[in-house]
Amino acid sequence: MALFKKKTEETASVAPVPRHVAIIMDGNGRWATNRHLPRTAGHAAGAETFRRIALHCRKLGISYLTVYAFSTENWKRPQPEVEKIMSLMKDYLLEALRDMQKNHVRIHFFGDLTALSPELQELAAEAEKESEEFTDSQVNLCINYGGRDEIVRAARAWAIRCGETGEDPANLTEEAFGKLLYSGDVPDPDLIIRPGGEMRISNFLLWQAAYAEFYYTDVLWPDFDEAELEKAVEVFRSRNRRYGGV
Ligand code: FPP
Repeated sequence: MALFKKKTEETASVAPVPRHVAIIMDGNGRWATNRHLPRTAGHAAGAETFRRIALHCRKLGISYLTVYAFSTENWKRPQPEVEKIMSLMKDYLLEALRDMQKNHVRIHFFGDLTALSPELQELAAEAEKESEEFTDSQVNLCINYGGRDEIVRAARAWAIRCGETGEDPANLTEEAFGKLLYSGDVPDPDLIIRPGGEMRISNFLLWQAAYAEFYYTDVLWPDFDEAELEKAVEVFRSRNRRYGGV
């Protein structure tokens, strides 16, 4: 059975699935606390949810999935929690490298990875390099990522380039600026999902979210399952995107 209705004559006007879905994976800590577990158990459950949702995105025909795994502000968390998230990331990258030729998923990172351990940096670089040939499906992992930081870095890169090449800074266009961001050639997200009950952007994809549709739910990230994803996609498809027009 098709996961979503195929375009028939009756459904010809139904919007397609989003090309790019981005998720703020919120609620891991509360999920664990509700179960009298340490917060780190919530992150472990959240990493499992990420695996399932990434798989389901592919099944639904979503080409890009971007997840907020660790923000530039998350360093303020207790050391064991930071270490747990990094260790979950390492497990995922080892697994992705092992299964690369089977899964054909391109892996990409948004964020300043130089703050990570040398081991994690090496794994990240390897995963990116080994998967760069895959074009059907892409996962962007945001680690040590902040939207404002990303914009400042791009502005700095532009200023440096103008200084070096003599190019007129006034020549900058939105398109050229977008290319200087971590997201470079990745299309903007169509749908941003935030589970966990909060309704804020939390420094996530500030530039890229310009015309994204937002979907919020009270479901905590570890409980966010395939049916929840499909619900979010159905809501997205029912929206009328006007991009500032009428
Ligand atoms: C926010 O929930 C979640 C994070 C800051 C970390 C998310 C990281 C993972 C799910 C693991 C990453 C690993 C891979 C492989 C992608 P919170 O802790 O702020 O939840 P709370 O609001 O309930 O406290």
